[in-house]
Amino acid sequence: MADTFDVVVIGAGPGGYIAAIRAAQRGFSTACIDPGARADGKPAPGGTCTNVGCIPSKALLQSSENFEHAGHGFAQHGISVSGLAIDVATMLARKDKVVAQNNDGILFLLKKNKVAFHHGRGSFAGRDGDAWTIKVDGASAATLSARHVIVATGSAPRALPGAPFDGDRILDNAGALAIPAVPKRLGVVGAGVIGLEMGSVWRRLGAEVIVLEALPAFLGAADDAIAKEAQKAFAKQGLAIHTGATIGAVRKGKGGVTVEWTDAKGASQKSVVDRLIVSIGRVPHTEGLGADAVGLALDERGFVAVDADCRTNLPNVWAIGDVVRGPMLAHKAEEEGVAVAERIAGQKAHVDLETIPWVIYTAPEIAWVGKTEQELRSAGTPYRAGQFPFSINGRALGHGDTSGFVKMLAHQRTDEILGVHVINAHASELIAEAVVAMEFRAASEDIARIVHAHPTLSEAMHEAALAVDKRALNM
Ligand code: FAD
Ligand code: NAI
Repeated sequence: MADTFDVVVIGAGPGGYIAAIRAAQRGFSTACIDPGARADGKPAPGGTCTNVGCIPSKALLQSSENFEHAGHGFAQHGISVSGLAIDVATMLARKDKVVAQNNDGILFLLKKNKVAFHHGRGSFAGRDGDAWTIKVDGASAATLSARHVIVATGSAPRALPGAPFDGDRILDNAGALAIPAVPKRLGVVGAGVIGLEMGSVWRRLGAEVIVLEALPAFLGAADDAIAKEAQKAFAKQGLAIHTGATIGAVRKGKGGVTVEWTDAKGASQKSVVDRLIVSIGRVPHTEGLGADAVGLALDERGFVAVDADCRTNLPNVWAIGDVVRGPMLAHKAEEEGVAVAERIAGQKAHVDLETIPWVIYTAPEIAWVGKTEQELRSAGTPYRAGQFPFSINGRALGHGDTSGFVKMLAHQRTDEILGVHVINAHASELIAEAVVAMEFRAASEDIARIVHAHPTLSEAMHEAALAVDKRALNM
């Protein structure tokens, strides 16, 4: 006999658990299924983001940044530190504690909202009348029945052909977050978000890091000016980034991992590293979901095919987050989860993929929303640009970190803000103002006329908006 619900959510990552909470808030009886487990077998909801993504990576970025500041940043403030050392085991244990706190928080929230949590793997088993049958395998084996199903099964790391992940020498994101001692030589394949963040963590702790990127351009998705500034900053820090690299054979041996590669000029190269992080993108995770059993359509790249409202080809089956098209970001997954739960409740929900912010948590941080200058140029959109550097921002000078700038792009005729790009230690927080402005379809003049507290880094946003109209006051 199946347990009957209005909504069953498969997967409890940021997309799934938020969708389940919002469905429950709208009065639906809701179940959420996830197999994630801690070392002791207890449930570990939160998906990639909580367990092996956003949360642990930011914990390690913070620890390693503290170490770097103590070693190199404090001296300018007259603070001297001697005997500086890193205890990697303590750092990793702290990270694990942060993750566990988040797991517990999600379990608490599910319970508080009366979502029935099933610890196991869910799969489509068929349809009975207008209800879907979902089988749960694992710790809490069960058969569930629901009118609506939300698929939120996330993504998995992509391996290099011929070099499978082994959790020891050739590492995916989970392995990169659990290296037990600082490697002397670390190789990273892929200079994307994971490569730059994890490369930074281990570089700050003392590893010699080489990053091999296939594309000729560095950070192609970012605004060109930001990518150029970031590349300069990372090179100065000692991250050896090689763009236009073609990876050849990858061999494990006694001395570590040997990577044969061809550089941008076509010359053969060989790098021997102790550990190799492979961060060349992620693939949608639909294995074991039973998509075939019910005819759930996937697109040509293996994502669950959905329309703009996250509807699949099956009645009352929805899909959200990394397993569908669009940026693979936790906040995108969450907002799609909220929107789908509200659509099920008959509300008109909307997620604008154009105003989803991107943040790369390196030092300096990189954040943007909307279009890059090169995108506007190639689309032939007339625009004006305003830029303001942190080197002349009073608060940044006080911090002792004046790296980066804010760049604002606005339509030449309407002045509507089309894109905002920030590179600075606190870019992740500064970008929120730009997202709000773009969601409200603000003009650069709106930001220019809004009072920004002094002294703050946000004044650089204000000045960049003024600079769009060539009337920056402090430049
Ligand atoms: P997931 O988080 O992948 O969750 C899917 C869940 O479904 C998993 O728990 C999985 O076990 C479960 N599942 C799979 N199949 C089944 C099944 N058949 N039955 C039941 N459950 C199933 N994004 C950001 O926005 N900011 C960041 O700082 C950031 N940092 C990241 C750092 C790293 C190292 C990585 C790898 C990713 C990072 N991301 C970040 C991306 C972010 O983690 C993902 O975009 C986000 O987790 C996607 O959420 P989701 O709910 O779609 O999927
Ligand atoms: P990515 O897409 O960000 O970067 C992958 C990089 O690898 C690209 O630059 C690509 O050109 C390169 N590449 C691909 N194949 C290659 C090959 N064979 N050889 C060398 N280089 C190759 O993917 P990444 O870093 O794996 O992260 C996956 C996703 O996780 C990100 O796209 C992002 O959506 C999410 N994420 C988000 C974070 C954040 O928001 N701060 C942090 C980490 C991950």
